[in-house]
Amino acid sequence: MRMYDLIAKKRNGETLTEEEIRSMIDGYVLGEIPDYQMSAMLMAIYFKGMSDTETAILTDAVAHSGDMVDLTPIQGIKVDKHSTGGVGDKTTLVVAPIVASCGVKVAKMSGRGLGHTGGTVDKLESIPGMRTTLTEEEFFEVVNTTGLSVIGQSGNLAPGDKKLYALRDVTATVESIPLIAASIMSKKLAAGSDCILLDVKTGSGAFMKTLQDSVTLAEKMVAIGEHAGKKTMALITNMDIPLGNLIGNSLEVIEAVETLKGRGPKDLTEVCLNLASGMLWLAGKGTPEECFAMAEKTIADGSALNRLAAMVKAQGGDPSVILDPSLFAKAPYEREINAVKKGYLVHMNTEQCGIASSMLGAGRVTKESLIDYTAGIALKKKVGQEVEEGETIAVLYTSRQELFDAAEEEFLKAVTIADEKPEEEPLIYARVT
Ligand code: URA
Repeated sequence: MRMYDLIAKKRNGETLTEEEIRSMIDGYVLGEIPDYQMSAMLMAIYFKGMSDTETAILTDAVAHSGDMVDLTPIQGIKVDKHSTGGVGDKTTLVVAPIVASCGVKVAKMSGRGLGHTGGTVDKLESIPGMRTTLTEEEFFEVVNTTGLSVIGQSGNLAPGDKKLYALRDVTATVESIPLIAASIMSKKLAAGSDCILLDVKTGSGAFMKTLQDSVTLAEKMVAIGEHAGKKTMALITNMDIPLGNLIGNSLEVIEAVETLKGRGPKDLTEVCLNLASGMLWLAGKGTPEECFAMAEKTIADGSALNRLAAMVKAQGGDPSVILDPSLFAKAPYEREINAVKKGYLVHMNTEQCGIASSMLGAGRVTKESLIDYTAGIALKKKVGQEVEEGETIAVLYTSRQELFDAAEEEFLKAVTIADEKPEEEPLIYARVT
């Protein structure tokens, strides 16, 4: 089977067979197919798309390019969650302990920050002593004793995706719905849980900027999950404004803890309760309403907070910062950002907010960059609120004063103030099953 012929076939809008897709992925992972031919194929897929069957086969082939994690040493039903990425998205830190408190296991592999979006593993590493690399035995042990564990992705989980993603990143082929669906779901299938809850973000801070694209992506991913025998559901959630009020690594852990104490921002709390109840519903714990009430109870009685502290302790971290987040190290420098005029905050370009936070040191400039865990942004006003001229709308934090000017400029570009109060947008747009 010549790669040249497969490229031409896809370029002409034809459908690839199972044998063709599997041999292409095997050949690419083994290094027999060069990057330039795979790049041409990715661009052909970008323009011509893939059928649901082709996408499902591609996902399965990429999932099987490395280890398929066997979670059977962990007792009970295991539920995974995946967010397509956003700004201020600390939901895993809230949702996983809630679900574990209700008796459903969460054995989760998470990612690091990517572009303007933050990553759960970086956030967890802002906790002193916290280990996010565990052996398989340690991982199973932590889940069996505390009900949950969140670690970084193991080196051999879907290595085909790692190679393909790096190529897509430099060939302008990331924004393809079948390629995104196959990339995300290959890792979810390889990670071994029984059920998968997908949080598909939509809006200016998401990879999918329109609701229609987000729904299409969600439908594709749910179909792939179900086809692979996993109970799968997606929620389409708002990423047109940052989630919660804090952006940055330790800042987001602090806000997650506040939410587990019942004192979190309304938007973050509502999204987390919906995600958690979706995971509980997938695990067969009751009706959606019963699952929502169950999730709320774990916040009210403190059990979810204690679960998070137990997981942190089991992974070598200092649980005292979870119980008392004022113990987290603070950024040595802060700068207030004030409204340039009176009016309503009508829009916040969320991608630019994420970039501004990254410019303060919360994200990486290169793969080798060291993260400033204390850096980030505290939003004092959000979309829909009225502001006076000169009133503080945000506070920037960093360990390096010289980073303030550029980050402030980026943040101010993200904010639009106008005379008319904007209409409130929903937090949850749709549920795809
Ligand atoms: N996240 C992924 O894991 N893959 C994509 O293609 C896009 C977002």
